[in-house]
Amino acid sequence: MNVHVYERFWMWVGAGIVVVFLAFIGITTVGYGVRPPSHIETIPDPSQTLSDPRFAQQGVTTLPDGSVHVTMVALMFTWLPAEIHVPAGKPVTFRLASQDVTHGFEIAGTNVNTMVVPGYVSQLTTTFDRPGEYLIVCNEYCGTGHHTMGGKLVVEAAP
Ligand code: CUA
Repeated sequence: MNVHVYERFWMWVGAGIVVVFLAFIGITTVGYGVRPPSHIETIPDPSQTLSDPRFAQQGVTTLPDGSVHVTMVALMFTWLPAEIHVPAGKPVTFRLASQDVTHGFEIAGTNVNTMVVPGYVSQLTTTFDRPGEYLIVCNEYCGTGHHTMGGKLVVEAAP
């Protein structure tokens, strides 16, 4: 079969692009830990989130092994609690749920960014290396007060 030289050229270019894309997926997955959340945990009635035993008490808990758990509830138009303090250099696990509509939990300047969908528990673990103050924003339009839905994360240097 005779394939024209231009045809052959573009076939190789096409194949090369596919290889580059696959390589990027591999590098970001293995090297940078970029992957979709795989945690599946539900809340039968989102409107009862605040009385759910998993979310009735919000705030920061330190476990015996030194890791930190943060429990937060999103509701129009605030985060509960709106200010949290966590240590630098320790794994921090966030557990979030929404009482009403879909919100977006983003900590500006970090890789923390997850949707908070009513009826589901959003969970992610990260480590903050740089002490300082970080802005928590809502990045999913959730109503007329969406732009006011902010919070503060304080990463404290290890003593
Ligand atoms: Cu909550 Cu936008």
